[in-house]
Amino acid sequence: MSGAFLIGLGNNNDKIRKSASDDFESFWALEAKRLEWFRTWDRVLDWNPPFARWFVGGRINASYNALDIHQARCGSKPAIFWEGEDGSSRMLTYHDMWIQVQKFANVLKSLGLKQGDRITIYLPMIPELPIAMLACSRIGVIHTVVFSGFSDISLRERIVDSGSKVVITADVGYRRGLKVQLKDTVNKAVETLDSVSTVITVKRTEKILHTGPRDLYWDDLMQRASDTIPAEPLESTHPLYILYTSGTTGKPKGVLHGTGGYLTHLHSTFRWAFDIKDNDVYFCTADIGWVTGHSYVVYAPLLLGATQVIYEGAPDFPRSTRMWEIIQKYGITIFYTAPTALRMLMKHGDSLPASFDLSTLRLLGTVGEPINPRVWEWYYRIVGRQECPVIDTWWQTETGGMLISYLPGIETMQLKPGSGTIPIPGLDMTVVDESGAEVAADTKGYLVIRNPWPGMFLGLWNDEKKYREAYWSKYEGLYYSGDYAKKDRDGYFWLLGRADDILKVAGHRIGTAELESCLVSHNSVAESAVCGIDDEIKGQAIIAFAVLRQGTDTSYDLMRSQLALQVRSHVGPIAVPKAIYFVPRLPKTRSGKIMRRLLKSLAVREETGDLTTLEDNTVVAEIRHALDHQK
Ligand code: WTA
Repeated sequence: MSGAFLIGLGNNNDKIRKSASDDFESFWALEAKRLEWFRTWDRVLDWNPPFARWFVGGRINASYNALDIHQARCGSKPAIFWEGEDGSSRMLTYHDMWIQVQKFANVLKSLGLKQGDRITIYLPMIPELPIAMLACSRIGVIHTVVFSGFSDISLRERIVDSGSKVVITADVGYRRGLKVQLKDTVNKAVETLDSVSTVITVKRTEKILHTGPRDLYWDDLMQRASDTIPAEPLESTHPLYILYTSGTTGKPKGVLHGTGGYLTHLHSTFRWAFDIKDNDVYFCTADIGWVTGHSYVVYAPLLLGATQVIYEGAPDFPRSTRMWEIIQKYGITIFYTAPTALRMLMKHGDSLPASFDLSTLRLLGTVGEPINPRVWEWYYRIVGRQECPVIDTWWQTETGGMLISYLPGIETMQLKPGSGTIPIPGLDMTVVDESGAEVAADTKGYLVIRNPWPGMFLGLWNDEKKYREAYWSKYEGLYYSGDYAKKDRDGYFWLLGRADDILKVAGHRIGTAELESCLVSHNSVAESAVCGIDDEIKGQAIIAFAVLRQGTDTSYDLMRSQLALQVRSHVGPIAVPKAIYFVPRLPKTRSGKIMRRLLKSLAVREETGDLTTLEDNTVVAEIRHALDHQK
C-alpha cells in the first residue's frame, strides 16, 4: 500500500489557518484567552531576537489551569488511571489530584521553598511525579525532572547545574520486573553535595531504608500537610521548568520553559491534534522524564480536563501484548507513542493486536523520530483498522510542543506515510541550504523557523552564550533546529533525522560529545568517537571507537566491558554502545574535526564517499585493518 490517505474527522476550520497567517500575534492572543489568567497581559509578545517573551505582564498559574478550573465541572472525573508494571493500578480524579498537589505544595513551602527556587525530581512513572511537578508550579518553584534511567553522575551534574536544594525520589522503580534502586542512586549523587538540604522519598515498596539527616518520607510529610494553598499568580514569563537535554557539547543543556506561552501552545496543539472530547481516554506512552511526558502527559491533558492512562513500565513487559491489553482494558480512544515502540510491536506480527479489542481507538499519534512509511502503514492498517487518522508530530524539547503535525481537530487532509505534513498555524518554517537560502522542492536541507511561537523556550539555564551559539548562530535571525528535512511540491515536510552530533536511540536523545567525554575519562582511553548506525527497532544504535593509550595491555574484551560499565555508570544504560571498536587513531579533517561519518561507513563496510577533507588518507587503511582484527 502506498500513496496518499485521506482521513479526517470531518472537521474543517479554514479560519484558523487564515487568521494565524494574517497576524500570528493576535491569533495566539486569542488562543491564550482560553486559559484562566489572574491578570491579562500588557503585551502579547516581546521579541528581542533571539529572546521571545509571551504575554508579558500577564499573571497565570499552571497548576490552577490544570486542576482548580475543573473542580466545579468535573472534580469527580478520573484524571489519571495509573497502571503499574506489576499489574497494580490506581485511579486519581481531578479532585484527588487537586488535594494531593495542594498538600505537596504545602510540604514544599514548609521546607522553605519559594518562587524561583529549583528542585530536582528523580521519580519513576508513578502519580507522585505529576503531583510533585504541579505542586512546584503552584508556588512558582522550578522543577527539573531527571529521567529515572540516568546514573548518579548524570543526576548529580543536573542537581548541581540547576542549584537544586531538594531532591525527590522513590525507593525503587520497576523496569522489566527489576527493582531499580533509585534511592541508592540519589544517595550516591548527593553524597558530597552540601547544597542539597532535603531528600524526599516515595516508598513504592516496603523496603527498609537507611535514614540520613537529610531524609524525609513522602507519606509522613503528606499526612501532616494541609490540603489548601492558593495558586500563586505568577508572571507569564516565570520559568516553569528546566529540562536537561543532550546537545553537541559534553555538558547537557538546561532547556528553560516559561509559563503563559508554553501553556497556550499546549492547550491549542492538544485540542487541534487530538480533537480531545470529554469522553476520550488518552494514552501517551512517553516517560515523563522527557519532554513529551512533560508536555503531553502532565500539562496538556490536564489543562483540557482529559482522562488519561499512565503506564509505569516497559511497553513489552511482561508480555509483548502489554500495550494492546491496556488499550482494551481502559477503552483507550487516543494512542500516542514513538516509532521505536511501534517497530518493536510490529515485529511480533499482525495477529497479536488483532486478537484484542482495539475498536475504541479513534486517533493514533507518533513522536520522537522519523517514522518509516512501512511502520506508519502498519500502525494505520493493523492498529487503526484503516479508520483512525495517524498524526506524525514533529517537535523538540526546545519547542515545548508540536510544531509540525496533521491536526485532525481543525482540518481534513491527505496524509502521506512518513511525512509530518505541515507546520501548525502561526508558524513560519522552511528548509534552507548551508548558506541560508531556501532550497527547491524535494531537496534536502536544514529545517529552520522564521518566527517565534508561544511554546518556545526562554533560553538555556545560566548559559546565554550557548543558547545563541547552538540555535541562532548558524543563520542570522533563523532558529536552527539541527534537523535535516525536505519539503515536497505540496508543501509537506519530510523529517530526515539529525544534522548534528545528536543521536536518537529508541527515541532518547543522546549527544555524541557527552558519550565521548565519558569514554575518554577512562584511564586507558586516549581518544574516542561515537556515531549512530541504523537499527531496525531502535532507529539508531550507538557504536563507539576508542584509541587506547600506549602501553595498555588489557584485552579488548575486558576493555569493552569496562567501557560499557563506564557509560552505564556515568550516563545511564540507554547510552551503552552496541559495539565498541579499537582503532589506532581517528580520522580527522584538516581543521581537526573527527569524521564520524567515515568511521560509520568503515564499521558497516559501506562506500566511504568523498574523502577530500581528510587530513591523512592512510588512516582509512589503518582503521580497516584494525576493524578486521578486533579480538
Ligand atoms: C526528532 C522529542 C522525525 C528530531 C519531542 C528532533 C522527529 C528531535 C519527530 C527532538 C518526528 C521528534 N519525525 N523526527 N515526528 N519528532 N523528532 O528533544 O530529530 O527529545 O530534533 O523531543 O527528535 O528530540 P526531543
